[in-house]
Amino acid sequence: MAQHDHDQHHPGHHHDHGATDTEIDWAEMASLLESEAELFTPLYERALGWLAKEVTEPGLIVDAGSGPGVVSCLFAEVFEGARIVAVDGSAPLLERAADRAARHGAGDRFGTLAGELPGVLDELDYPADLLWASRSVHHLGDQRAALAAYAARLAPGGTLAVLEGGLPTRYLPRDIGIGRPGLQSRVDAVEADWFTRMRTELPGSVAHTEDWPALLTSAGLHHSRSRTFLLDLPGPATERVRTHVVTTLARTRGRLAGELDAEDRATIDRLLDPADEASLHHRSDVFFLTAHTVHTAVRPV
Ligand SMILES: C[S@@+](CC[C@H](N)C(=O)[O-])C[C@H]1O[C@@H](n2cnc3c(N)ncnc32)[C@H](O)[C@@H]1O
Repeated sequence: MAQHDHDQHHPGHHHDHGATDTEIDWAEMASLLESEAELFTPLYERALGWLAKEVTEPGLIVDAGSGPGVVSCLFAEVFEGARIVAVDGSAPLLERAADRAARHGAGDRFGTLAGELPGVLDELDYPADLLWASRSVHHLGDQRAALAAYAARLAPGGTLAVLEGGLPTRYLPRDIGIGRPGLQSRVDAVEADWFTRMRTELPGSVAHTEDWPALLTSAGLHHSRSRTFLLDLPGPATERVRTHVVTTLARTRGRLAGELDAEDRATIDRLLDPADEASLHHRSDVFFLTAHTVHTAVRPV
């Protein structure tokens, strides 16, 4: 698979009414996406182990919306005979994916394809035996149409696996001794509203009930199954966990501070201040717990 450089295809959300707070600069998020996926590796490994029982000896695996390719490289590891193509709208992220595959000794069976999903999949040379899309379908305006396009790129008997939904992440107890208890639940509520706005402002946005098995069935696939995988990293938190939660909370503060009340903003400021003993940098009660759901379905033979 040739490397395609479609610089004109910026996967951010194209608006002609000016910038909004839901536009995402994916290339700028490269290292966060990479370190996050690395932290989530135990969860992905279990998900891929589950898929490996269903999908035997795939020839071509496509990772749609691969980002920096951490999971694409896990696919290369788990499915040793397969060719992997990482597809994404961000060429800089795909460069990271290709470098990573080369470092992992899988460069000779790893390709990248840059462009807007789902249309860019038409450029694939072969139908996919396994098409994986992790946390990327929700960035496409018409999720149902995207799943139908993905399904059309499957070989007969091929599997579509979509990682969407699960549970909100928790990394602090309900009462953290500063501010009003329940901070993370309130941040989640504000995040949920932001997510709805983000989806509404996507080009070609269509509202669908996010019943993933039903959407897979409406894409002409059958045997839909769903399974949820936990990432459970109890305290005391490692430096990696602390760095991740600090980075994500700082990002949330930057985007959503205006939606939270003054007391919650002050609590978040304390949590982010390395000089504060009550901050995420020093607290003994930091942990990491989350769950992601994988939905699969198969193209009829
Ligand atoms: C949240 S990241 C997920 C990355 C990776 N799959 C993971 O789970 O860690 C979403 C990815 O989808 C890509 N993406 C978003 N919208 C896209 C579009 N319209 N066309 C192509 N790629 C897109 C972004 O560039 C980004 O790499």
